[in-house]
Amino acid sequence: MADYDLIVIGAGPGGYVCAIRAAQLGMKVACVEGRGALGGTCLNVGCIPSKALLHASHLYHEADGHFAKMGIVASPSIDMPRMQKYRAEQVEQLTGGVAFLFKKNKIDWIDGWGKVAGAGKVEVALNSGESQSLNAKNIVIATGSEPASLPGVDVDEKRVVTSTGGLTLDKVPQKLVVIGAGVIGLELGSVWRRLGAEVQVIEYLDHITPGMDAEISKQFQKILTKQGMQFTLNSAVQGVDASGDMLKVTYQNRKDESTQTMEADIVLLATGRRPYTQGLGLEDAGVAMSKRGMVETNGTWQTSVPGIYAIGDVIDGPMLAHKAEDEGVAVAEHIAGQHGHVNYGVIPGVIYTDPEVANVGATEEELKEQGRKYKVGKFPFMANGRAKAHFATDGFAKVIADAETDRILGVHIIGPSAGELIHEYCVAMEFGAAAEDIARTCHAHPTLSEAMREAAMACGSGAIHV
Ligand code: NAI
Repeated sequence: MADYDLIVIGAGPGGYVCAIRAAQLGMKVACVEGRGALGGTCLNVGCIPSKALLHASHLYHEADGHFAKMGIVASPSIDMPRMQKYRAEQVEQLTGGVAFLFKKNKIDWIDGWGKVAGAGKVEVALNSGESQSLNAKNIVIATGSEPASLPGVDVDEKRVVTSTGGLTLDKVPQKLVVIGAGVIGLELGSVWRRLGAEVQVIEYLDHITPGMDAEISKQFQKILTKQGMQFTLNSAVQGVDASGDMLKVTYQNRKDESTQTMEADIVLLATGRRPYTQGLGLEDAGVAMSKRGMVETNGTWQTSVPGIYAIGDVIDGPMLAHKAEDEGVAVAEHIAGQHGHVNYGVIPGVIYTDPEVANVGATEEELKEQGRKYKVGKFPFMANGRAKAHFATDGFAKVIADAETDRILGVHIIGPSAGELIHEYCVAMEFGAAAEDIARTCHAHPTLSEAMREAAMACGSGAIHV
């Protein structure tokens, strides 16, 4: 007799959501998590704490800049221990919330590190020091990812930090060098820039945010530069020397191959994440892995071993909490004999800087490569009344639709609340909507959403306010 219908290894957004849905569907569920708290990277050292610091630093920046223009007299200053306490409180409340949901759904939290010992078998090294063998009809691997390392860069999480240490600095760095102009580098770089640090970002490519619609990426770099962030592009970081008082970052210019150095008091390594699979016994259990170290799965998230499934950052696709959550729900439904499904064509991406950047669906570059004919409608936030009143006019919304059918193929926004505005289009795309469907939908005035409607109108007979 199996102890459980399902054992989930890892309690991040993929794993804990999977466990809850499986329990709701009547399964007896255990979730193995060794971190000492539920919620994984996202709740503990990722999405949630970074959003807390992004929010606090944004308000500080607003108070320092726009308050006076609106007749509010204030001279803000930073109490870093209090700000870090606020961050920690948010994490504690939310991870506690997941523990409450586990109890409510009668899910057993196995407090330790799990290892697959074959189909249906999980061995756990409990944090109490003992070990426990569990049997289950099904196993879901949801162990997430960890920061990728870079040769020559030794992370100590104090002076040379990944996103984990970059969230808990006890004072504002004087000079922060960020390695990698991806999502983490730009979000955390923004936090410390707004709080007063000099921020220099070194990026390997000739542009920031790889994979993003090129027009948005260019505009994003311009806006961040205006905010004081500095960029050194086309440069490969080769090492960080931590022997002196100041850190010395060595990088090679990829055009002229010259080697240069830059000093910093803090270096943030943000060159991507890799799937967390070591010590899980996957190879021994016969689970096939891809060349890139990902767990291979089929269309129903099953690995090469029947009864063992994998979701989230350990499998192919964007390393995003909400993608993992959707897979968690879908795989639980599949195991329960239902028809769980994830529409990989409609997974939004958001960068929580100011302004925010959000996208869903195809970029212009992807469509060009596919040889697909498309049309583009754009609308600047400068022409949106609400954005103007909020001093938030940087950026624009861009809707890409099929040239013949008008079906929405992709949406890219850089602007205020872009991370919220994108969802109108996610729903529209799920329903296979045309740009005209949005253009003919009444949008309340005055809202930022009107800019989204005007971008759709610009795909057809034209926007009104430009
Ligand atoms: P990333 O893959 O987004 O960006 C890494 C950047 O580092 C790339 O631009 C790459 O060209 C550059 N790079 C690599 N090696 C380099 C070198 N030697 N020198 C200079 N530059 C170098 O990775 P990031 O920002 O670390 O994020 C990891 C994952 O976490 C991503 O998949 C991201 O989607 C996810 N994430 C998502 C968030 C969100 O949705 N808001 C927030 C934080 C992370």
